[in-house]
Amino acid sequence: MKIYITEVGPRDGLQNIKEIISTEKKIEFINKLSESGVDEIEVSSFVSPKAIPQLSDAEEVFRNINRNKNVIYSALVPNEKGLERALSVNVDKISVFTSASETFNLKNINMTIEESLNKFKNIIKISKEHKKLTRAYISTAFYCPYEGKIEEKKVFQIALKLLEFGVDEISIGDTIGKASPDDVRNLLSVLLKEISIEKIVLHFHVTYGMAMANVYVAYKEFSIYKFDSSAGGLGGCPFAVGARGNIATEDLVYMLKRIGANVNVDILKIVSALDILGIESQSYISKVINLL
Ligand code: HMG
Ligand code: MG
Repeated sequence: MKIYITEVGPRDGLQNIKEIISTEKKIEFINKLSESGVDEIEVSSFVSPKAIPQLSDAEEVFRNINRNKNVIYSALVPNEKGLERALSVNVDKISVFTSASETFNLKNINMTIEESLNKFKNIIKISKEHKKLTRAYISTAFYCPYEGKIEEKKVFQIALKLLEFGVDEISIGDTIGKASPDDVRNLLSVLLKEISIEKIVLHFHVTYGMAMANVYVAYKEFSIYKFDSSAGGLGGCPFAVGARGNIATEDLVYMLKRIGANVNVDILKIVSALDILGIESQSYISKVINLL
């Protein structure tokens, strides 16, 4: 199966950066990423500007990017107001986000898990009526910075509910990057008993240095082929203490190519897209780009 990469740099990558990046630079960044071969770009978030000031220009960014017909342009939506904003600029794919931890969910979106599921049922329904693709994130699916280890069963139950609502895929978030390859094996063993592979996306952060090993296990042992990653390894949720960047797209692509996966992303284009922002890359590959 061809690897499917969602480049989350413009959203997850930028949401935790305090210094506001100009809308023009974000558009240029996204346009460059659009030429790289990634399948999907998470462009921004239609959340409260008080929660994430960096992404308050989501509409303007969406209105001005050049859309490549081979790329899906998605965004985070937490509530009806966010959905209305996203629909007004014709976002291709609506991504809702809940958590497997009550404490984190309250800190992140000020809703209990149940409240968020009730809200998302309706958001997914309306999105589908508008012929939109849909995704649901389950954050802190392995560890929560406030509640510790999360039971696999809990993630499984939330995933089943979201799939009942008709969501196209579930992105399993290791928000604080603490999952080990054994944790990934344990969770996938439970999820894949009833959920088919094309519905599962893995979203790893690098905090404890295990993200690459986790992708390896997911791909080699379970044939998972959908991954989220961020150019330069930027990212992290400001409401999760200790969260660091996403797995870097260029590192992920390099590793997948080296182990024979069918992945069609141009590493040089990813690295040069990040140069537009003038932010230091966190990736390994950007340091050896002249040796590739
Ligand atoms: P709340 O305070 O409960 O919301 O926040 P509210 O409905 O009471 O509204 C409060 C104010 O926000 C009002 O404005 C609303 O109009 C406004 P005021 O009257 O005070 O001027 N508001 C909005 N404005 C614009 N767009 C909206 C919107 N909604 C309300 N959609 C809320 C609840 C969900 C809005 C808030 O908590 C929020 O926006 N949270 C977003 C947090 C976030 O973006 N976190 C990072 C993304 S998640 C992540 O990074 C994890 C992930 O990467 C996966 C992983 O790594 O695990 C996805
Ligand atoms: Mg994330």
